[in-house]
Amino acid sequence: MKFEHVLRSNQFHLGTLEYLFALADKIRKFNRTQEGLLYLRSLLPHKRAMLFFSQPSTRTFLSFQAACQILGIQTSAIRDPATSSEKKGESIEDSLRTFSSYVDLIIMRSPVAGLCEKIAVLLDNTKSWVPIINAGSGPDEHPTQALLDLYTLNRGFKLHGGINGKTICMVGDLKRGRTVRSLSQLLAHYKGVKIIFSSPQEFKIEPDLRAHLQQAGNINFVETTDFVNSISSADAIYMTRIQDEYDSPDNSLQNIDTSQYNLTYEHLAILKPSCKILHPMPRRQELDIKIDQDPRAEYWNQQRNGMWIRAAVIAVLLGVDQEILSHTVTAHHAL
Ligand code: NCD
Repeated sequence: MKFEHVLRSNQFHLGTLEYLFALADKIRKFNRTQEGLLYLRSLLPHKRAMLFFSQPSTRTFLSFQAACQILGIQTSAIRDPATSSEKKGESIEDSLRTFSSYVDLIIMRSPVAGLCEKIAVLLDNTKSWVPIINAGSGPDEHPTQALLDLYTLNRGFKLHGGINGKTICMVGDLKRGRTVRSLSQLLAHYKGVKIIFSSPQEFKIEPDLRAHLQQAGNINFVETTDFVNSISSADAIYMTRIQDEYDSPDNSLQNIDTSQYNLTYEHLAILKPSCKILHPMPRRQELDIKIDQDPRAEYWNQQRNGMWIRAAVIAVLLGVDQEILSHTVTAHHAL
């Protein structure tokens, strides 16, 4: 498998997705034994990665760092641009070009849509080329979140005929939620999938995503404000929080009542018994903590799946994926 950067979710085709899922499964399996762990850690100890996160993050940052550690990669990080030369007026392009002289991989999160692509093009034309992973670019894209969401759905539906033919209900801030945008585009690769976008009028999906899904052809989607009916018919529910960090004084969605779209413990009674409940996290009131105990809650698995699928992505970018897939560990000192 070969890809040079991870910039947008629509760069992945079905074959690539299935390959990454198999690779993540293999990495996860190796992690169950000491031999497996040490084998993985021996693969890339000569490589260095930079995590440049200029937007808040808990899960994505830590899971990328853990994914690097799994493969033996050493990491460095900038999480606060106030501590870098950006503060002295350096352009973001110059900062990233500088990082690329020190490391073999850059993982970046930024509030600016499209910045990752811009940097990737810039680095493609320099001698210090390194792969870039988009770990969230403004309200635009979050491709590795989409991979982990899909990996979770794929595992969850394994005994129920896979993702094909399933109804996925997405709820919340569908306008500015990048995870919804990235995941919807990946779901369009499957056959007979239906997406129900359920949100208040003001939080509907953006026209470009609507056009993309219409063009993709094989995906059926509806947009509704009817929360209760949409969740009761769903095979999976993808809850999201209101992305109010993008509110501004002249463009605020702050006063819109979204309480009707909260998934409560009482709603569990109307969900399908096999329904999967996902959330990229962090959550607020839109997802009741009482639901955590329900077997349909998948969001804690999702977080762990993020580490495996990110390790798989990095393994491909740094060229050890074939090696992992063909390796077998014989001794079993279970952890
Ligand atoms: C999401 C993000 O940052 O886009 N979180 C994450 O990466 N797990 C969703 C969010 O912040 O609401």
